[in-house]
Amino acid sequence: MAEAIHSWSVDNVAKKLSGAKFGTEDDDWENKKEQGKAAAGAKWTADPAEALASARHEFGEHGGVNMSIEASATFTVMEPDTMRKMFAGELGPDRDFFVYSRHFNPTVLNLGRQMAAMEGTEAAYCTASGMSAISSVLLQLCPAGSHIVASRCLYGGTHALLSRFLPRAAAIRTTFVDVNDPAAVRAAITGETRVIYAETMSNPTLTVADIPALSAVAREKGVMLVVDNTFTPMVVSPARLGADVVVHSVSKFISGGADIIAGAICGPARLVNSMMDLQIGTLMLLGPTMNAKVAFEIAERLPHLPLRMKEHSSRAMIYATRMKTLGLSVVYPGLPDHPHHRLLQSIANSGYGFGGMLCVDMGTEERANRLLHHLQNTTQFGLIAVSLGYYETLMSCSGSSTSSEMSQEDKETAGISPGLVRMSVGYSGSVEQRWAQLEKAVAACRREEAALTPPAIPYGTNCA
Ligand SMILES: Cc1ncc(COP(=O)(O)O)c(C=O)c1O
Repeated sequence: MAEAIHSWSVDNVAKKLSGAKFGTEDDDWENKKEQGKAAAGAKWTADPAEALASARHEFGEHGGVNMSIEASATFTVMEPDTMRKMFAGELGPDRDFFVYSRHFNPTVLNLGRQMAAMEGTEAAYCTASGMSAISSVLLQLCPAGSHIVASRCLYGGTHALLSRFLPRAAAIRTTFVDVNDPAAVRAAITGETRVIYAETMSNPTLTVADIPALSAVAREKGVMLVVDNTFTPMVVSPARLGADVVVHSVSKFISGGADIIAGAICGPARLVNSMMDLQIGTLMLLGPTMNAKVAFEIAERLPHLPLRMKEHSSRAMIYATRMKTLGLSVVYPGLPDHPHHRLLQSIANSGYGFGGMLCVDMGTEERANRLLHHLQNTTQFGLIAVSLGYYETLMSCSGSSTSSEMSQEDKETAGISPGLVRMSVGYSGSVEQRWAQLEKAVAACRREEAALTPPAIPYGTNCA
């Protein structure tokens, strides 16, 4: 009985989910993925905003233009025998039969359909946080004692999950490598490896993963490529480039409001299906599913994500370019001097720029903190806060905040210097208003530093 409940789950629902993507509903997933890869190989030119707009629009119960929120945890049936049929796998979400919202919920499924359309995957399901999306996927794909090859440049929480939590909880080991070195990735893969894991654009160093090259290695070695696309929704579509699974911290750009913690898993229906298995499914058994009210909120924000990303990217490009003229050490993949500028150009969707994240290396934590202080408290350019994707600019010193889980050695390997200030560029106010605030804060830092430096002793005065 427990097994049967899954037979109708996402496999059938995926047919509803897949409308806006590759080919017909009858194509199998491997074919769709191949088509996606072929398209990616030739540089995918379609716009993810178009894919999102082609997803089925869900109307409200009374014809409302917005979908209704199915806020129920449990679902009733008219006849007792219907319950038996649902548990026997004869009736399911594809025919609007639901059992319990930790399993499937109609509103959360609708958001999943939008996410799948946007990322070009067969299916998607949404979770309570980005970390739960990542941990659930990895625990589903990697049995105890298995192995992961991961980028050495990752969000601190993910790094801790891989380097500390998974070895302790399930003897899953990770080898961290430079993922843009295919030979190193290949060499790190063992018979136990199940997953290659990378962030499209790494937190906080903004290195860009060569997803087509990683996908080629993953296929050659028969492992899954899982990509965290939190920094670059719309800008890059990893599944179109060959990633098997795309995960998101929806708490960031996708939400846009810095008010919700949420995540998403976009990938093959059979993966989401296995994650809902009553016996071994991580979504079903660890239970990090999304609340329907949260799913509704996010579904209302997705349609303007393309516009928001364009503005985040456009402003990040303007500030990065101008900050360089102030003599600051700027890291931004949109600048031609960024080591992965050309790579990002070659894999990015056109029209979305190079993303809304930039970094300034101030050399020391003290100087980084001085800049942060003036940017927030003197000129009101932005807010000293972790996270990203908000309409206000958010800024933090990564080494002592979001990457503080990492050892000093791991930070050095990842290129996280103590003075690295990460900025998520917002779009409130005008460009010139914000630029004037930024310039003023930099000038204030320089004045203060000049006052702190002991004056040079003029020649000829020291006769001792
Ligand atoms: C790249 C990346 N992935 C995942 C996460 C975790 O997401 P959440 O905070 O939604 O659990 C974060 C959080 O900062 C992140 O930056």
